[in-house]
Amino acid sequence: MAIICKDNVITLKTKNSVYQMKEDRGFLFHTYYGPNVGDTDMSYLWRTIDRGFSGNPEGIDDRGFSLDTQLLEYPGYGTGDYRDYCLRVVYPDGSQVTNLKYVDHEILEGKYALEGLPAMYQGDEKAETLKITLRDIHRHVEVLLYYGVFENLDIITRACKVINQGEESVHLRRAYSMCLDFHQKDMDFIQFYGRHAMERVMERSPLHHGIQGVGSRRGYSSHQYNPFVMLAKHDTTEDSGWCWGSCFVYSGNFQAEAEVSQANNTRLTMGIHDTQFDFLLEPGESFTAPEVMLSFSSEGMGKLSRNYHKAIRRNICRGKFKNARRPILINNWEATYFGFDTDKLLEIAREAKNVGIEMLVMDDGWFGKRDDDNSGLGDWVVNEKKLPGGLKRLVDGVNEIGLKFGIWFEPEMVSEDSDLYREHPDWALKVPGHSLTRGRNQLVLDFSREDVRQYIFDKMSEILESANIEYVKWDANRHMTDVWSAMLPAERQGEVFHRYILGLYDFLEKITQKFPDVLFEGCSGGGGRFDAGMMYYHPQIWCSDDTDAIERLRIQYGTSFAYPVSTVGSHVSVCPNHQTGRSVSMKTRGVVAMSGTFGYELDITKMSEEDKNVVREQVEEFKKYYDLIQQGDYYRLSDDGTKSNYVAWQFVSEDQKESLVNVVVLRTKANPPFQFVYLRGLKAESLYHVEGTELNLTGAALMNGGYLLPVVSDDYEAVQIHLVECE
Ligand code: DGJ
Repeated sequence: MAIICKDNVITLKTKNSVYQMKEDRGFLFHTYYGPNVGDTDMSYLWRTIDRGFSGNPEGIDDRGFSLDTQLLEYPGYGTGDYRDYCLRVVYPDGSQVTNLKYVDHEILEGKYALEGLPAMYQGDEKAETLKITLRDIHRHVEVLLYYGVFENLDIITRACKVINQGEESVHLRRAYSMCLDFHQKDMDFIQFYGRHAMERVMERSPLHHGIQGVGSRRGYSSHQYNPFVMLAKHDTTEDSGWCWGSCFVYSGNFQAEAEVSQANNTRLTMGIHDTQFDFLLEPGESFTAPEVMLSFSSEGMGKLSRNYHKAIRRNICRGKFKNARRPILINNWEATYFGFDTDKLLEIAREAKNVGIEMLVMDDGWFGKRDDDNSGLGDWVVNEKKLPGGLKRLVDGVNEIGLKFGIWFEPEMVSEDSDLYREHPDWALKVPGHSLTRGRNQLVLDFSREDVRQYIFDKMSEILESANIEYVKWDANRHMTDVWSAMLPAERQGEVFHRYILGLYDFLEKITQKFPDVLFEGCSGGGGRFDAGMMYYHPQIWCSDDTDAIERLRIQYGTSFAYPVSTVGSHVSVCPNHQTGRSVSMKTRGVVAMSGTFGYELDITKMSEEDKNVVREQVEEFKKYYDLIQQGDYYRLSDDGTKSNYVAWQFVSEDQKESLVNVVVLRTKANPPFQFVYLRGLKAESLYHVEGTELNLTGAALMNGGYLLPVVSDDYEAVQIHLVECE
């Protein structure tokens, strides 16, 4: 049993962690989340002190007892807990006070699901659900707290549902997904910030009194802050120490905050951002807050990441391509931008076939009037000037050459200069009578509207049915502004951001079900919607518009804290690189791109024979290492290059018999000092053969003595070490 209930104490157990709560005097307290402590009632750690200005709830005859200083599972608002809260409801009389009390709980077999929202599913794992009912003691608002316990994955999920059981309508102004309280404050807050073309840069800072947090009001999870955060003890490293992760399975606005209180407690909260959030709940209506995946590791951040990698790979990603081998592709974006036609694409396909590439992806520019990024979005009709004879002729041609075919869409957007916008100006998000805020000269379609979604769905289906299309790159190239929907009444305009995301999920669910054999890749100007919510529909996401291998080291490093390599879209592009102007060797570009769903993004018809031979070798190499890279355990062996002179990472097969170590040495140096890389995850006693050398070394030697890197003669040289356990 992963969920144990004894004397008002509920203990959730995973392989390496315990999460506990306790009902006492009607309140639901949090008692513990950390290493295994069995089912000891952890409330022995409680102490009540009469703290001035921290009020005492009615009915409790103890001046030391205040919600302000307790650890709570799901704090309401306005009853003496002045810290960050999870729920704020505005009642018909204007009051906003929510007094939540425990009612009952149920333990259910299997993992709960959330209607209309992505969430971890049970799959082949063992899972149990805890459902707790809280009720406001004065009003008829109920909160159902859901906990999913994945024992073997060391993951505990949380979500909740707020139901208006009363006879009058209420407004939800905040409904977070979870709160996680800690007794201590001596921890670091770790988050992943960024910008377009430099996403998910790791930043670690000590907690301080007050609130520290990240979030998005951009409509999407965003390049700027990722909806994944961690707390870690100050001395926690990759391989040792305690850390906790909180990963939002949601792609819209979010908020993640850590608050250190007067009593040196810490409160971590996560949920939908409450900016412009106002959900009207009529009697009987409910609101479901999206899921958060929690994990704890006492063996450092590397282990925490591997917990998330497994869980996302196995219990978030779905469909045929969750496990099926994904094709090595060539994408024409950086090769041609908008300037291509059928002949050019076929020429690329022919050359690609010669080097073993398996799929051609036609990017932006194949439809409507689209010769640059100022027009055409929304007109999903093939441009026959570029593709004479239509899509079928092109796709058949590509298939005859022996390649699969993929296509780019940006379904959620519309250009003002498009037939769609001219016909339906009210289909875009905007406030009537207001001036428009443009982004890349385009507007966002109102995906909260069923009719808008249905129209795009039909157009997209027509295209996908018109030829043998086996892959879709789904892009979204701006953030939301002027958020107002022509379909909703004034009192529901605070719902548009979330309804948009629900609409998007609905669309994705339907399209992925209708085309189960199509591989969908997510994208939002690179990694602007790189989150576990999207991974439920898109098993891979274009990681960044920055294809420079050296910049990618940092981006992919940050990305790896939560997200598995199998979700990371990564390609080799041309040098000098189009974003940075930097030149690095084909080998280095290949090694970096192979830590993802591998492909090319360059004009192969202009490549030298020498480079094409390198591509041929890389393709073979990627095929050889495919399972190890996509399914293996991932270890970071360095930082992101800020302090270290190399960036190194390692894949280890589940049976620990094979491993691949990738290293990019950043700077060459005169009279160079020795540089060692210390491997991880091997069997200490086993002997490993280092491919291409005479060396047979034990796992213990490689992990403790390390591997001496060769002396490099140029900046950014890559070194690969392949190890196979000796028979
Ligand atoms: C942004 C994407 O990230 C690029 O790869 C490319 O598809 C462009 N959009 C096309 O407009």
